[in-house]
Amino acid sequence: MSEGYLATAKNVYKEAALKPDKGLCCTTTPVWQLPDLNIPSKMLEMNYGCGSTVHPRDLVNNPVVLYVGVGGGMELLQFSYFSRRGNAVIGIDPVSEMIDVCKQNLEEAERLNTWFKKDFIELKEGTALDLPVESKSIDVAAQNCLFNIFNDADLDLALNEMYRVLKTHSRLVLSDPVCENDIPAHLRNDERLRALCLTGAIPLNEYLEKIVSVGFGTIEIRAKRPYRILDPKHYDTSKMIFIESVEICAIKDPMPKDGPCIFTGKTAVYFGEDDLFDDNKGHVLLQNQPLAVCDRTAGHLSELGRDDIFISGSTYFYDGGGCC
Ligand SMILES: C[S@@+](CC[C@H](N)C(=O)[O-])C[C@H]1O[C@@H](n2cnc3c(N)ncnc32)[C@H](O)[C@@H]1O
Repeated sequence: MSEGYLATAKNVYKEAALKPDKGLCCTTTPVWQLPDLNIPSKMLEMNYGCGSTVHPRDLVNNPVVLYVGVGGGMELLQFSYFSRRGNAVIGIDPVSEMIDVCKQNLEEAERLNTWFKKDFIELKEGTALDLPVESKSIDVAAQNCLFNIFNDADLDLALNEMYRVLKTHSRLVLSDPVCENDIPAHLRNDERLRALCLTGAIPLNEYLEKIVSVGFGTIEIRAKRPYRILDPKHYDTSKMIFIESVEICAIKDPMPKDGPCIFTGKTAVYFGEDDLFDDNKGHVLLQNQPLAVCDRTAGHLSELGRDDIFISGSTYFYDGGGCC
């Protein structure tokens, strides 16, 4: 793929800034409805994400939030809803037209929301591949439907940059398309389709491997939803291609000796004769109580071959709790 794909992406998002395109990205993820939060209609029209990266549980202890790829600014406003102070949310985008429209949308948000000041958000021109942000200065970093447009090497670079700017134990929240079907090379290399978040998606496991390879020790998969179909009638493909969108939280915990803790929504339930089952590795299963476990722990418990421990499949809906 030519390096020109980044230039194509910039052109696509310049167009999407100047003329909102409702069909660009977007999933069935509901937009946050919260008391006294009024989202300007143009921000809603420019909801170019494929999930949500705003999770109140990530936002305790007054975090500094970095949001890369600002779009119309809707998630910046939602993050500000929880922080409500200056110097708490930083937005980065390389497309000056997108930054300008985002600024205008934030001005409108200030008119519609008495609690909000546009100065709560600092907007900077810059790229995910070379973040204009100090190392270890961020508590929550987020990107929504951006990293899938990057080629392999640039995706590694972007993940490394996020890792660099995060403080230890801090969080990277990602929402992106993934795809388990083969996407033919001519579609993958189509710069415009790629920029439109249609053909850059990689399989979930490859995406997770990349996140782990930069050093994140804990990973949560919070959602997985149908996203797009590329079918032979509309795209140059002989087979139908099914694309999903995922929401993932990667935590900058040290890497455990035996590999990362990846929570894909598996649960263990002990239903034996005792009050509890203790695997002596930190996991205590109370009689007939569900315990969320990471995939590695689920594997260890399965290997015990017991007929009184049930391990569920991955729900791809993990929202906290459990241990590994
Ligand atoms: C699909 S849109 C998503 C916008 C926003 N995250 C949302 O959920 O609505 C991708 C965004 O990333 C920006 N972008 C494109 N290339 C980028 C890069 N190299 N670094 C950072 N942002 C980039 C685009 O200008 C656009 O604002």
